[in-house]
Amino acid sequence: MGYSRTPLQSSSLQNDMPTLRILGLILLVPGLAWASYDHYRLPSALEPQHYDLRVLTHLDGGQPRFEGSVNIRLLAREATSNITLHARNLNLIENRTSVTSREETNCVVSTEKVDLYDFYTLKLCRELRAGEVYQLEMHFGAELNDSNAGYYRSNYTDTDTKELHHIAATQFSPTFARQAFPCFDEPSWKATFAITLGFHKNYTGFSNTPVQKKLPHDSLEDYVWWEYEPLLRTSTFLVAYSVHDLTNASTVESKTSNRVTFRNWMQPRLVDQKQFFIQMAPRTLEYLEELFNLSYPLRKIDQLILPHHRFSAMENWGLVTFSEPIHIPVAASVVTQNENEATLAHEYVHQWFGNMVTMRWWDDLWLKEGPSTYFGYLVLDALQPQLRRAEGFIQKDLAKFFKMDSGSSVPAISKEVTDPNTILGQFSTYVYEKGSLIVRMLHRTLGSDVFFSGIRSFLKKYNLQNADQKEFFEAFQELAVSKKVIPEDFDLNKAMESWTLQGGYPLVTLTRNYESGTISLIQSRFLLGPGKENISSCWWVPLSFVRQEASNFSQTIPESWLECPSSESVLQLSDPPGPDEWLILNPQVSSIFRVNYDDRNWLLIANSLKNDPSFGGIYEFNRAQLLDDVSALAEARIRGYDQVFDLFEYLKNETGYHPWNRAVQVLNRRGALLTGQEEVDFKTYMKKLILMVYGRFPKLALASTQPPSPKDVPFQRLVYSQACRFGVKDCLFQARWLTMSHRNGTQLEVSSNFRDVAYCSVLENGGQEEFSEVFQLFQSSTNAADQRIWASALGCCPNFELLEQFLNLTLQSNEKPISKCYMLAVKQALGRRTLTSQTAEHIISHAKLLGRKFQTKDLTGLLVSLAENLQRPEALEELSASLKNFKEFEVPLEKALSLAKTNQQWQKECSGDFSQALRKRI
Ligand SMILES: *[C@@H]1O[C@H](CO)[C@@H](O)[C@H](O)[C@H]1NC(C)=O
Ligand SMILES: *[C@@H]1O[C@H](CO)[C@@H](O)[C@H](O)[C@H]1NC(C)=O
Ligand SMILES: *[C@@H]1O[C@H](CO)[C@@H](O)[C@H](O)[C@H]1NC(C)=O
Ligand SMILES: *[C@@H]1O[C@H](CO)[C@@H](O)[C@H](O)[C@H]1NC(C)=O
Ligand SMILES: *[C@@H]1O[C@H](CO)[C@@H](O)[C@H](O)[C@H]1NC(C)=O
Ligand SMILES: *[C@@H]1O[C@H](CO)[C@@H](O)[C@H](O)[C@H]1NC(C)=O
Ligand SMILES: *[C@@H]1O[C@H](CO)[C@@H](O)[C@H](O)[C@H]1NC(C)=O
Ligand SMILES: [Zn+2]
Repeated sequence: MGYSRTPLQSSSLQNDMPTLRILGLILLVPGLAWASYDHYRLPSALEPQHYDLRVLTHLDGGQPRFEGSVNIRLLAREATSNITLHARNLNLIENRTSVTSREETNCVVSTEKVDLYDFYTLKLCRELRAGEVYQLEMHFGAELNDSNAGYYRSNYTDTDTKELHHIAATQFSPTFARQAFPCFDEPSWKATFAITLGFHKNYTGFSNTPVQKKLPHDSLEDYVWWEYEPLLRTSTFLVAYSVHDLTNASTVESKTSNRVTFRNWMQPRLVDQKQFFIQMAPRTLEYLEELFNLSYPLRKIDQLILPHHRFSAMENWGLVTFSEPIHIPVAASVVTQNENEATLAHEYVHQWFGNMVTMRWWDDLWLKEGPSTYFGYLVLDALQPQLRRAEGFIQKDLAKFFKMDSGSSVPAISKEVTDPNTILGQFSTYVYEKGSLIVRMLHRTLGSDVFFSGIRSFLKKYNLQNADQKEFFEAFQELAVSKKVIPEDFDLNKAMESWTLQGGYPLVTLTRNYESGTISLIQSRFLLGPGKENISSCWWVPLSFVRQEASNFSQTIPESWLECPSSESVLQLSDPPGPDEWLILNPQVSSIFRVNYDDRNWLLIANSLKNDPSFGGIYEFNRAQLLDDVSALAEARIRGYDQVFDLFEYLKNETGYHPWNRAVQVLNRRGALLTGQEEVDFKTYMKKLILMVYGRFPKLALASTQPPSPKDVPFQRLVYSQACRFGVKDCLFQARWLTMSHRNGTQLEVSSNFRDVAYCSVLENGGQEEFSEVFQLFQSSTNAADQRIWASALGCCPNFELLEQFLNLTLQSNEKPISKCYMLAVKQALGRRTLTSQTAEHIISHAKLLGRKFQTKDLTGLLVSLAENLQRPEALEELSASLKNFKEFEVPLEKALSLAKTNQQWQKECSGDFSQALRKRI
């Protein structure tokens, strides 16, 4: 499933606090023996084997609704006198429920419900006998909801006729199938499905598989029944159907073993725009089928672009759905395109990781999201190697991980989940991105041969079944031993669990003995901020080294491992460095830990970076990480800022985007906390720093006439945005010039790649006139990509009264893309010194509406970005008093306060050192 990289999905379902709900249950139904906390799973006495599902959809005339029946074939594994399954928000017509076997008809004595777990239990007249097969038939109905979950409604207005068109579609992942029909809604209860849809003949109906029969409805005039081919064994969350009148933009046959045919459904106004995914999806599927050496089992895939979608996309078997903003045409900026393509690739990796092989339970969600994210990146490189996009995404995830996971309260990616709310809470960027980094770590430490063999044998072994993370890691064990990638007695599962079953990451301190040539290694959890006193953890850390004279950063298979639990370990390397060579641990930043070296080794590294035109051969990822590590060590007061700025000096010769990007992020994070003369000095330093690289790029004003290679866009955006922000005169001039001719309406169209950067500068240095003009552009733009560009520029306007007009407008809107624009502008404004406090007040005074409109993760993003930008972090505590009454803000506030405390501590303990070291260099 694709989470939205950009903030927001509006939702009313998701804001309940899980802990409160659990308490509520205990208070409400204390008498039920099986309602205790550990019985959140369905009993295992009954095994669903097959579902016959019939759903009749009414889209027109009053409230859109559906009614249906399900006939489930059940195998009684044990004798039992009750049937428990999931059902939620359904009107069950209980007098039509029946339980039969070949010999007899059973009956229902009574029914019971447990709301917290959505359980529905039928108590039967007679016991079901072990080994017998039964048919459970149930009838139900409900309204098509507007919460983008279960079987829900969506709509669009035809741009020509202005007529409103209705759509019904499903989103069952993770626990919403139970809102559409009663079922055993857990990922390991895989069963086959035969689906029949009834609908008015003005529409078409789709399900996971091709239609096999079309019949008129027996009683309803102009209604039809469409029967679909049986669907292979699958988890309920991957079942899908839809009734709509969307248009097929294109039919494409792929070269997969089953010649999967793709169709692409969307509202008519989108059809003419060039859609990247029409060509990309089939190529992606072909590539993955070969990579995984396992045939894709279906014959067709319908891609459905929905105006309303809970997530950015959903990987349903044969009916992959996308949120409309994802369809963004090829004219969108390179950054947006890359993200959309990564989402698409992610959904198709899911066909193997998630659909064919499914995690046993939601605690191992990362087992489908991690590989889908990581292999999704690899797909981008496989399809267009020259753009080298995978490394951009991996760097982004690394930067975020090292920043986020240095707090004391980060969760493990594999953790116990029980009720639907905590299951939904698992779908966080955290699980996706750290999950991806873990898969990458496995890839790098085992080497491509063992890794891909293991992946293939895992998929083959568990095809159409379920697996947990232990079974995943065990798939590599034997081969890794036989190829001598790990020692014979090494337990790969145990080692990898140390990364998935706990949050955080280690700092490895490496001290060399320059006489004996030995090294000593010691690990501890790396933590910043308060609450770190009582935490002791350890990891199995793969150790591979590179020395200066043999700087081969592609050798990432470890020489040995740091054990857990561990004490100091002393190693004699097989190929030890001489006393005047540096030694670097963790080539390519294959594993997710920081390293601190002894003084002399740091010095050797710094000298190489500064004096060697090729940086001593140090790999670009490692250069970025060295900058990040040394800064983090200074924040933890393990190293001083003099050393940090000393190392940063090499940047003047740095040609790579990643080290620059990481350095700028790290510096700005600290700069945001400075005031007075320190702030002035910081700006001077940043301007000087950026000027070192600014001249290497073409003038911003030429960006539209001489478009850069897509590969260079991120670096250029970074440099232009920082140059304009820190007042490089030429940049300000270029931005004004470029937008001026655009605003004249006569000349250049500003490339979408740099439009927000240029307009941000113009607004930042402009007034009412510039604001109104861009506001107007926002209101008249018709696609979400353009709207987002304008919104993010508007957030740069330094006059809050003006900005407020925009915030008022977008906050009132019920359309998801517009709400996204609100978030973009607010975050942009928070990052602008002049606006932080007024924006904070705005958040407080609209807390109620914000809490209702946005999900926890969006609110968290909002408050965290507030915490990052408050020069007086204690101000957050004052503000938090006003948010205390809104339960939606509880979790976000906790995270933001913890960050504010870390920042406060930094101001107290480190900012002096930081500013002093910086002042020497301006
Ligand atoms: C039936 O209910 C009893 C208690 O009422 C419980 O112990 C048992 O697990 C239930 N079985 C099923 C299949 O729901
Ligand atoms: C079954 O229950 C429905 C209400 O759920 C009622 O309208 C109907 O008359 C009942 N049918 C029979 C046969 O009892
Ligand atoms: C269109 O669908 C959305 C989402 O379900 C809903 O909020 C809105 O009211 C619908 N519009 C109309 C005119 O039915
Ligand atoms: C079906 O389409 C016809 C022709 O466009 C229209 O007149 C009719 O109202 C539609 N009926 C429904 C139920 O959508
Ligand atoms: C760094 O760049 C400067 C010019 O900007 C050049 O003179 C110097 O030789 C470079 N240093 C290295 C080590 O490449
Ligand atoms: C149009 O743009 C040019 C720069 O390209 C500028 O010199 C001129 O003043 C602009 N005209 C108006 C009416 O803004
Ligand atoms: C925005 O809305 C608030 C009330 O929510 C109002 O007080 C304020 O004046 C509005 N600002 C603008 C610029 O419209
Ligand atoms: Zn996913």
